[in-house]
Amino acid sequence: MATIKWRKNLSVGIMRIDLHNQHLLRLLHGLHEALRKGCDKADLKFDFAELVDYSVFHFACEEIWMSRTHYRQVMEHEEDHKRIILRLCKLYKDLQNGCDLTLRELSTLITLLIIHFKEFDASFGRFVLENKLSTTLMAPVPRHKYF
Ligand SMILES: [Fe+2]
Repeated sequence: MATIKWRKNLSVGIMRIDLHNQHLLRLLHGLHEALRKGCDKADLKFDFAELVDYSVFHFACEEIWMSRTHYRQVMEHEEDHKRIILRLCKLYKDLQNGCDLTLRELSTLITLLIIHFKEFDASFGRFVLENKLSTTLMAPVPRHKYF
């Protein structure tokens, strides 16, 4: 099972992104615990829907921040967001259709996100820091704009 605790080497050097990534890991940790304890399927669906919603919101924020900072690797980064969202949607649809979410599938998802943090988000973090871009470009994005 992939580790699901936040650790310092996951930091991308930008507090707002780190806070979002920490929340994603908290949601995944909650799902992992729920699966391990064999929780009610309705609760699992509810928690998984929250993970999908938050992921969509978080990726949209990052895409706005990348656009504001004229980040050159935005396309590749967005492609990876899409890949993760497609996987999340497939698992959520399976859950809705009565299939079980397995610890193995959850582990794969966690691994995908950890790789995303370490490669794509870290690369954007380095770009912001190296170019001394103002963190005001990373101002909070109102969540209601996306739902
Ligand atoms: Fe990202």
